[in-house]
Parts: sequence; structure tokens; C-alpha cells
Amino acid sequence: MLTIDNVRAGYGRTTVLHGLSLTVADGDMIAVLGRNGAGKSTLLKAVIGTVPLSSGTIKLGDQDLSRKKPHRRARAGIAYVPQGRDIFPRLSVLDNLRVAAYGTRPRDASQLLEQVLMEFPVLNAKRAEPGGGLSGGQQQILALGRALMTDPRVLLLDEPSEGIQPSIVDQIAETVCRINGERGITVVIVEQNLDFAAKIAPHAHLMDKGQIVLRVPTKNLISDRLLQHEFLGV
Ligand SMILES: Nc1ncnc2c1ncn2[C@@H]1O[C@H](COP(=O)(O)OP(=O)(O)OP(=O)(O)O)[C@@H](O)[C@H]1O
Ligand SMILES: [Mg+2]
Repeated sequence: MLTIDNVRAGYGRTTVLHGLSLTVADGDMIAVLGRNGAGKSTLLKAVIGTVPLSSGTIKLGDQDLSRKKPHRRARAGIAYVPQGRDIFPRLSVLDNLRVAAYGTRPRDASQLLEQVLMEFPVLNAKRAEPGGGLSGGQQQILALGRALMTDPRVLLLDEPSEGIQPSIVDQIAETVCRINGERGITVVIVEQNLDFAAKIAPHAHLMDKGQIVLRVPTKNLISDRLLQHEFLGV
């Protein structure tokens, strides 16, 4: 279980998360939805440890991660795909994956690499090409593969459908579902794209002004224009 309890966090004197609480059961796949600037990315950064908490706690199982450095949280099993993906454009696909395993044991790293290349044939086919030469969708697959190189228990995805051709978006959704289904990895996905989120997560947690304000089945949200207008600004 990932437990985020009453978390306050932000940038300098600006507080963005105002006592946010959210729990995610092991193996679950949930979406966090909210409009521009609601604090979705800040939430994920607070979980991985690049935005410090001013109060509250973040736990994975019994382990309190609240004051741990990002690399310790990664080792505890938290992996993250940032908004915009942030792959290394000049490094080869293979090196993008290898860099992510820094900190894991070398023997594990080569096993994890083999597994990722087998699971994502497109990465294997393009293994020697620079990451920057891949299409947006392929870069997103690379970012997912990179996150799996740390053998995570929890995968945090920040707007994985952003900037990706509609025809490829379904593939990304299927890939995320497969990672959850076959590996049993808990998935938290932050999105503004409701249709994409609904393909992945049965429930959405709506975020507004730095708090989770409502939990709803994504299929209900799709038919509720009022809720969409209020929380997604569409
Ligand atoms: N590095 C930063 N320094 C200062 N303020 C920031 C920083 N990053 C984000 N903010 C502010 O924090 C608030 C929440 O931003 P955040 O990026 O978490 O929103 P978001 O929900 O992810 O938005 P989007 O959907 O546009 O990605 C915004 O008001 C933003 O301007
Ligand atoms: Mg964001």
C-alpha cells in the first residue's frame, strides 16, 4: 500500500499541496485527474522526493519514505516517468535504459535489461539508435522501459498521453495495463486526458487546489459534464 497522508509541500514559500491524502492498494491502477496547475506533477515529485514535504507522511507498506532521499525511495520501489518523458536524446536506447539501472546490482541490471528488451520489441529493434530519433510514442515506451529498469513496486506516470498521436495513445494505454497486469506493479497515473485515463483506471481521484477532493468511477466521470467542467476545466 502506498499511503500519502496529509502532505503539505511546494516550492520555496509557495505551498502547492495543502494537506493531500491518498492511498493506493498494492496492484491497483488509479488515475489522478485535475486541471492545469492543480498540483498533479508536484504530487508525484513529492512522492519521489524531489519536492520536500513541509509536513505529512508518505509510506510504502510499513516503510516511511517521507524524509528519504530520492535514490532511497527509488530503491524502496518507487519509479517515475516524468511529464515530457525526459529521455537522453543523444544516448542510445540501450544506454538510456542502462543509466536507469545505476544503483541496482550489475547482475540484476543485465537481467532487467534483457527482460525490458523482450517485453518491448520496438526498443530492441532501435537499441543502437539515439533516443532523440524515436517518435513521441516510442520515447514514451522508452521512458516506461527505463522506469522498469529499477524493478519497481509502484510506477508513477505523469501525463503519459501528452503530445502523443491519438493512434498511438491506445498502445500506450495497453502497455501500461500489461505492466500492471503481468508484473503486478501498482500504477498511479496523472492525466488531463480523461478518455485515456478511463482506458487504464477504473477509479479517478479528482485533484483541485492541492487536495484530492473526490473519488469517482472513471466511467461515471465520462458522462458527467458538470464534474468535468468543475475539475478538468473542459
Ligand atoms: N519549480 C517550480 N517553482 C515554483 N512554482 C512551481 C514550480 N513547478 C510548479 N509550480 C507551481 O505549482 C503549481 C502546481 O504545478 P504542477 O506542475 O504541480 O501542476 P499540474 O497539475 O501538474 O499542471 P499541468 O497539468 O499543467 O502539468 C502551479 O501553480 C505552478 O505554477
Ligand atoms: Mg503537470
